[in-house]
Amino acid sequence: MNQIGSKAIGSAPSKINLILRAGAIDDRGYHGLATAFEAVSLREYVVAEYFDGQATGYPSVQTLVYRVEPGVEPEFSEQLTQQFRGLDDRDHLAVRAAHALGADGRVKLTVHKTVPVAGGMAGGSADAAASLVAVNDLLGLNKHLDELQALGRSLGADVPACLVGGICLGTGHGDRMTLLREGAADPSYKCHWWVAVFMKQGLSTPKVFGVLDELRGDDGRSFSKDPEIGQRVLESLAEVPDSSSVSELLENQLQEPAFALRPELAAIGEHLVDLGCISWLLSGSGPTVVGLVANEEEAVRIASAVNANPPEGTRGATAVWGPGVGARLERALPNWTR
Ligand code: C5P
Repeated sequence: MNQIGSKAIGSAPSKINLILRAGAIDDRGYHGLATAFEAVSLREYVVAEYFDGQATGYPSVQTLVYRVEPGVEPEFSEQLTQQFRGLDDRDHLAVRAAHALGADGRVKLTVHKTVPVAGGMAGGSADAAASLVAVNDLLGLNKHLDELQALGRSLGADVPACLVGGICLGTGHGDRMTLLREGAADPSYKCHWWVAVFMKQGLSTPKVFGVLDELRGDDGRSFSKDPEIGQRVLESLAEVPDSSSVSELLENQLQEPAFALRPELAAIGEHLVDLGCISWLLSGSGPTVVGLVANEEEAVRIASAVNANPPEGTRGATAVWGPGVGARLERALPNWTR
């Protein structure tokens, strides 16, 4: 710990919002949310290393991006990695998370990314969550999950969800977590399989919330500050194992505003149902569209069919499962990493 050459590896899941209800906007520009997150199997890995550098300033970061394809291991992509070169390290959520824990220029981070940027699956928040657990270990801070969540929510509303994992209820700004069902480390009989379709062009979360306010016509201020998800629905999220029951619960109030900005997204969802998905929805503020399926074979079959004939504007589909475990320390990186 705190020794030159020491190293820690953290990982954190991306997420799909099974339910997302938005309430009124507050003075800070955030909306009250009631949302059910499912942590899914696309994970970010952050390696934190301690070396002989400046005992001031911010940690440095290198980001490596991997392309994900159905049924095979992620593959490093020079093209996708390119977009991260030349960016200011201090804008990287993994760096801001490490710095919030007291890491300085002696800490070097390497982020192995599989989650799409600006895709509505909390990739940036997963970077922050994985960085928090890695740096907590590297610096020997022994901070508990509650403390990491408190730090995390100041970095981004989805960071606590990536820390906790499983299926959880998010209230407040979607950043106050109640765990409804534990996540698993590997796909089990109690998991849901999804086809995730990624878009070439991301969507800005503030913009989607802005259009929601416009569509409501009154800044949403007449809406309840704290929307709710009924107790019966929460109980079924904690218990129901099969995809068709989950399908009946899916709801996302950011879908309409996202479709107003990107009308092609609805057609992608309908295409997924034509290919055999039970149902579909937009992940968070989008633009990633996810289709729910009965099992892994279906997920791989449908994702491969999308890739064989990709709808315009998409940049690939893959199979993911949930609920997965929240952020955690790893002994080693997966063997597909560079
Ligand atoms: O917390 P985060 O940086 O991920 O949020 C990005 C933006 O999304 C916020 O600045 C805000 O415009 C919008 N947002 C919101 N209500 C929430 C969460 C996010 O309006 N509960």
